[in-house]
Amino acid sequence: ISLKNYNTFGITANAKRFVSITSYYDLQHLLKLEKDLFLISGGSNMLLTKDIEKLVVHINIKGISIDKEDDIFVYITVNAGENWHDFVLFCIAENYGGIENLSLIPGNVGTCPIQNIGAYGVEVKDTITKVEAIEIETGKRVTFSNEDCQFGYRNSIFKNALKGKVILTAVSFKLTKKNHQLNTSYGAIETELALKNVTQPTLKDISNAVITIRKSKLPDPKEIGNSGSFFKNPVISKEQFLKLQKKYPNIPFYNVISSGVEKPQVKVPAGWLVEQSGFKGKRFGDAGVHEKQALVLVNYGNASGEEIYLLAKKIQETVLQKFEISLEIEVNVIA
Ligand code: EPU
Repeated sequence: ISLKNYNTFGITANAKRFVSITSYYDLQHLLKLEKDLFLISGGSNMLLTKDIEKLVVHINIKGISIDKEDDIFVYITVNAGENWHDFVLFCIAENYGGIENLSLIPGNVGTCPIQNIGAYGVEVKDTITKVEAIEIETGKRVTFSNEDCQFGYRNSIFKNALKGKVILTAVSFKLTKKNHQLNTSYGAIETELALKNVTQPTLKDISNAVITIRKSKLPDPKEIGNSGSFFKNPVISKEQFLKLQKKYPNIPFYNVISSGVEKPQVKVPAGWLVEQSGFKGKRFGDAGVHEKQALVLVNYGNASGEEIYLLAKKIQETVLQKFEISLEIEVNVIA
């Protein structure tokens, strides 16, 4: 079958064999029969560059349950196949706070811990209490505490030591029922709230602000295929940054507070580097760089994964030559 509708880049790649799994037990059973699998969830963070020979397993386990609650907190477990944004909207309707800034992020709940999704000053790691998974080798159930997950910027143990070793089946969250810790510090959110004359924002106000901002900058995968940020924002030494700043006084940056590295470091927005390298809004056949956010590569219809990947490599080379910075690809390239 074609996987075009199973990846937000809208890449046409075929699966020889495909199964959609709707329960934990079916998955456990499947693992007794076959272990060399190709997993697909929301398909929002992958670039397929070829047909898939392995059995493609679509993780489609649904369900949300409240584990416990008190006056202030609610503890919720969500199965991997639930759509992320639907879950955010559910929380807002129930007045559960903590993930409103993460509105409209494509993908499913089961993959949100892998790259520790983040936007507008919030990362999902701030609300995750537990991740449940099946170990592929043994078929046994394993659980990970927040600490076990080793979360970092767009990073976790599931991208590193446990890559290909476990299948995430559910994620548990601790959210607030009152005294919400609202995060409105991100400039664009402040501007959006002020524009609407909101002085005492609710969860819904923040979610709506984020939705408006995202819609103004990021292409809707249903209309133009994409995987959100294609590259990570690079972290460079302060020393290198100061040299760059002399040459480019307008270069945007954030000081990195704790990176585990002794020397001071600075994060530079990859979108700016790509834009300065002349790629913003450029189109090569059906592969392109989004006109409003240079960090997002897009498929205008029939681009192949290979074409998108070639464009990414061209961008990496140009940025490296111009700024001596190597951009790391954030999306999972299946090559
Ligand atoms: N910029 C440009 N040109 C561009 C894009 C950005 O100059 O084409 C500059 C902006 O002027 C601004 C800075 O880069 O000074 C930051 O831009 P923005 O606020 O749009 O955020 P970002 O750093 O480009 C990150 C995340 C996004 C997330 C936003 C908001 C990464 C790799 N990306 O982007 O995440 O929504 O912050 O928090 O960290 C995603 O991962 O798919 C994603 C969209």
